[in-house]
Amino acid sequence: MATRGSWSSKTGFILAGAGSAVGLGAIWRFPYVTGANGGAVFVIAFLVCCFFIGYPVMVAELTLGRNTEKNPVGMFNKLSGGKLRWKLVGGLMLLSGFTIFAWYSVIAGWVVGYLYKTAMGQFQNVQNLDTNQVFAEFVSNPLTVTFLHALVIFMTSFVVYRGVKGGIELLSKWLMPLLFVLLILLAIRSVTLPGATEGLRFYLMPDFSKLNGQMILAAMGQALFSLSLGMGTMITYGSYLSKRENIPASAFWITFFEILVCLTTGFVIMPAVSAMGKDFASGPELIFVVLPSVFGEMPGGYLFGVGFFILIIIAALTSTVSILEVPAAYFVDEKNWTRKKAVTVVAVVAYVIGTPAAMASGASEFWTNLPGIGTDFFTIMSTAFGDVSLSIGAFFVAIFVGWHWGVGRAADEIESNGNSFAIKRIWGFLIRYVAPITIFIVFAHVIWTQVLG
Ligand code: TRP
Repeated sequence: MATRGSWSSKTGFILAGAGSAVGLGAIWRFPYVTGANGGAVFVIAFLVCCFFIGYPVMVAELTLGRNTEKNPVGMFNKLSGGKLRWKLVGGLMLLSGFTIFAWYSVIAGWVVGYLYKTAMGQFQNVQNLDTNQVFAEFVSNPLTVTFLHALVIFMTSFVVYRGVKGGIELLSKWLMPLLFVLLILLAIRSVTLPGATEGLRFYLMPDFSKLNGQMILAAMGQALFSLSLGMGTMITYGSYLSKRENIPASAFWITFFEILVCLTTGFVIMPAVSAMGKDFASGPELIFVVLPSVFGEMPGGYLFGVGFFILIIIAALTSTVSILEVPAAYFVDEKNWTRKKAVTVVAVVAYVIGTPAAMASGASEFWTNLPGIGTDFFTIMSTAFGDVSLSIGAFFVAIFVGWHWGVGRAADEIESNGNSFAIKRIWGFLIRYVAPITIFIVFAHVIWTQVLG
């Protein structure tokens, strides 16, 4: 397809892929999910899931995308010869695209709000500031949260509207390395805070008695989420990839950068949690109650704070862009919509379905405490369209490549243009057996113990 956009270079693609992967998943989600799931054991489970499920599925998704040059629905349609059941898997990925875009933008909006607070000096020279209180007040203001949610959706739409090369690559190229440098500096500050030891122990010393099915599902969900897998982002990004590119190598670098950022963020947040006397299991508010105090405790904290929040917003945008790109590419490829129409429609729908999620942290009593369910709408949405839908998506990608389309065809695609694929046999084994069986067992176990038990 001559008109299809493409990445301008090899590093351009790795940066865009890493830009998609590195985002709130690493900086906001990884610390709080680690905190809620017992620390070091969870980190080990997360790493195992990255290597044995995440990496092989990423290679599979990129290969499927490059082979067909299509969005997930078009890809399944083409390679399965139009079978409805496979198109439905593509449909689930689209649905995840809409919903994840919706709730992810809520959190990105919180970060924008915190940038504003930091820039206004609200965290300057305040001894004994109750950061939990500050956060609770912030998220319970309906105007603030819905306005910020809209702002993020608007900014993302603007970038996606400009298309693959101009929009996405440019953002990733310069600012991701800078984000990483700031993370390292913050980690140094955190681990040297008085009281950091307990947090470090929590983060690094595994307590295997905490191992359970629920936690492994969370680790799997976190691995897929932070590597942008299971909803067709990597299929769609692969569709813009040239035949010259070496898929296993690119996937390796993307996985490597993502893990590096997750682990470094852990060193920023976990020691600070104990040093600031916070609770590891604080949930989604964790980084928001910890970071302001860390900035307050360091020389130049004001500039650090402002710079850090700006960079997280950019990291989040390179991720939201890659989420919105999936449904947008679907409407452009399959329904012949203009890019502008596709982006606008997805953005409006995501705003509407995201609003209850934005109101679910105190702004609306109904969405915060769903009657008869006992939890908030945001938690339901981010579990269903996060851990669960991504695991199902990744499961079917593995089955599709391993058993339907075939490892041989995938290897041919990967090796086109003379690229080598040294770990072909190992990858084939992981994608046919290890990844799908593990996902299946974890699911069966959680359903068995949580739903039936
Ligand atoms: N991985 C991104 C992050 O960590 C979020 C993201 C982008 C994503 N594309 C995705 C998550 C596809 C799941 C599926 O912030």
